[in-house]
Formats: sequence, structure tokens, C-alpha cells
Amino acid sequence: MEQSSLNRVAFFLVVVLIHGCVHYAHAEPGHPMINSIFSFGNSYADTGNFVKLAAPLLPVIPFNNLPYGETFFGHPTGRASDGRLVVDFIADAFGVPFVPPYLGQAQNFTHGVNFAVVGATALDLAFFRENNITSVAPFNTSLSVQLDWFGKLKPTLCSTTQECKDYFDRSLFFMGEFGGNDYIFILAAGKTVYEVMPYVPKVVEAISAGVEAVIQEGARYVVVPGQVPMGCTPIILTLYASPNEADYDAGTGCLKRFNELVRYHNSALFAAVSLLRGKYPAASIVFADYYQPVIKFLQKPENSDSMARPSSVPAAAAAGRTTTTLRRRAAYPARPRARTPPRTSTGTASTSPSRPTARSPPVGCKAPTRSRPSWRPSAAGSAALDIGDRASPPAHCSQIVT
Ligand SMILES: *[C@@H]1O[C@H](CO)[C@@H](O)[C@H](O)[C@H]1NC(C)=O
Ligand SMILES: *[C@@H]1O[C@H](CO)[C@@H](O)[C@H](O)[C@H]1NC(C)=O
Ligand SMILES: *[C@@H]1O[C@H](CO)[C@@H](O)[C@H](O)[C@H]1NC(C)=O
Repeated sequence: MEQSSLNRVAFFLVVVLIHGCVHYAHAEPGHPMINSIFSFGNSYADTGNFVKLAAPLLPVIPFNNLPYGETFFGHPTGRASDGRLVVDFIADAFGVPFVPPYLGQAQNFTHGVNFAVVGATALDLAFFRENNITSVAPFNTSLSVQLDWFGKLKPTLCSTTQECKDYFDRSLFFMGEFGGNDYIFILAAGKTVYEVMPYVPKVVEAISAGVEAVIQEGARYVVVPGQVPMGCTPIILTLYASPNEADYDAGTGCLKRFNELVRYHNSALFAAVSLLRGKYPAASIVFADYYQPVIKFLQKPENSDSMARPSSVPAAAAAGRTTTTLRRRAAYPARPRARTPPRTSTGTASTSPSRPTARSPPVGCKAPTRSRPSWRPSAAGSAALDIGDRASPPAHCSQIVT
């Protein structure tokens, strides 16, 4: 199911890309020839940077251990996934190698490089510190830092103006997802969703500035992903579980307020992307919707292909790429509200979803608590890594809070 849902997202993105290029950039007919991919982002895109960066600081990094990597690579790769990420499917679709992590072993970045780091934010570390948001991860890996890395690498990729133009005319820039971690850190500092909303314009501005920066460096094809429905992701459903059933959307079982935040972010980002399209007509800039496909999947999982069908835990599937999570969740009693509610003939939910019940963890696991860890490095829905708030639990427990 992980691969199928990812495939759908990847397919969607490719369609969006091709569409964008054809209709908006007056590119040559058909889709552009892409020879390299430059990826920026967080755990949704990291192909191995975080594990390099964190190795000297953390005794155990879950992404360095099975079951991470088991579904496709057969071994952990540093991806916060047991399989491939969206960026891997995109690379595959364009026939370029999987995008190597900037901090990894590969020294030849001819076909692109991945600057994404688990836990990365759109806003700088300094911003969080200045605003007393101490829940931020201690790693200095924000979008502007990733752009610095790109700036350092660029002279090794091309030198003359013409050479750079030829090179970047065949490059795809993937700017995100960014923002999810910003909001998670601010929430973890004790703010409510409504208190987080005023930060949205700032986050969007940072992403927009990042897009502008790569365009000024020569990027021609740029994808700007929005956020997945955060209120459907396991980490949020677990940390912010509510006894009030009105907090949950009846059709999906997702936490409504968090999805409101995401929709606000996505519409602001979409507007920013539209402005950039007007400002840089020679570039092809597309907003990639990560929200609707996930919601549609949650509303009608039975419409997805056969691998997805057995899953009646759509909330976990919302993570988009974690069969790991699904397996871990399977260790818990199913939450009734996570199932598709019965529908009336008019197609609306005939019953309110059952009230979420506190789950008892499998034997030997520490119960998820509402106490906030000092930080969680992943965007909503990706793998968990708690520093210091958990003695190593048995393997079957370790990914419950994602
Ligand atoms: C890097 O790889 C490309 C092909 O993948 C090759 O053409 C190029 O010579 C390599 N560069 C170096 C410095 O090895
Ligand atoms: C952060 O905390 C310090 C010390 O408590 C305080 O002086 C400062 O005004 C706070 N800054 C913000 C932006 O809240
Ligand atoms: C993060 O790294 C950048 C360089 O990329 C540096 O300018 C900045 O001061 C660093 N921020 C912190 C908080 O260490």
C-alpha cells in the first residue's frame, strides 16, 4: 500500500509537471528532458543526510535500522521510510538515478543532489530561538542552509553562464515539502493550532524566497509541494488525540483543526506560487497538491488498488509512505473512528465516528503520552525519533508515534 499510494502521488506529480511545462513555460512540445534533480526538504525527501549529520550526536538513529529500507532497498538508507520516497519515484520516472544525499558518500552529483534533511524547517533555527521556541530540533538544516549548500556545490556543476543555463534547463528543482516541521515545533512549544496560524505567512514567505533563490541561480523547472493533511497523520492523531468527537472529521477520522491549518498554508503557498509564475514567466513553477490525494484515499480507500484495500487504518496510510507505521499500528487495537463510517443513501455519514479510545500499547511498550518531547524531527507522518524521552523500547514499539 505504501508503494501504491506513493505511485499515485508520483504519477500525479509527473502529470502536474508535464502539464505545467507544456502550458505555462512554453517549453518544447512534450515534456522536458530532465537530466538532474535538485531536492530540498525534510523527512519526506531526505535520502540520507540526517543520518550523516546526526551520527556523531545520537547513539541510535532509527532510520539506520530495519525495518527502514526493507521494502525496496533491503537495507536502511537513511530514508525515513521502509520504501521509496516521492522523489525516488520522480527520479525513476525521468530515468535519472536516485538523488544522492549531499552529505553522503557520492561525490558525483552530475545527475543532481538531495539537500533534504529530516526535521528541516522553512524558517531558520535562529528565528525559533529568538522567539523562544525551544522545542525546535538542534540541527541547523533549514531551507536557507540547504540553499547555502547548493550555492557551495554549484561551481562544481557548471562554470560558464551558458554551461549553467544548459545544465539547469535540464534540471528539476523540488522545493519541499517545507513548513510541516515549523508548525510541529511551534505546536510542541505549547501553542494551539490557532496560535500557530499567524506564523503561516512567514513560513510561506520563506518557501517563496527559497523558490526565488533557485530561480535566480538558474532553475527552470520547479515543483513546490504543499503539505499533507497533518490532522490525518499518526503523530498528530496520537499526540493531540481528543475526547471530543466533534474535533474529528466524520468522513476521514482526521483532526479537523490541524487540517484547517494545512489548508490555510496550502492556499497561501498556492497564491505565492501564482505570484512567482507571473514574476518569472521563463520558469515553469508548479504547486504540487499533497493534500487532496491523501484525503481522497482516506475517504474511499476501497477505490485504491488491491494492495491498499485491506488497510482499514486510513489515518496511518495518510503518512503516505509508512507500511512500517501500519504494521506498528496493527499491534494496537483498531480505533473505531479510523474506519470508514457507514454511509447513508445520500452519501453522508450516518453515524458519528466513535469517540477515540485511549489505546493500550502492546506489552512491553511505553504508552504514547501527551507530554511533548523536546523535539521530533519528522514532519507529520514520518518516522519517529525521540531524543531522550524514551529508553530503547522493543523494536515492535519504536515507530508507534510517527
Ligand atoms: C560523473 O558521472 C557522469 C555520468 O553519470 C560522468 O559523465 C562524469 O564524468 C562523472 N564525473 C566525474 C568527475 O567522475
Ligand atoms: C524570550 O524570552 C526572553 C527571556 O525570558 C525574553 O526576554 C524575550 O522577550 C522573549 N522573546 C520573545 C520574542 O518572546
Ligand atoms: C546555520 O548555518 C548558517 C550557515 O549555513 C549560519 O550562517 C547560521 O549562523 C547557522 N545558524 C545557527 C543558529 O547556528
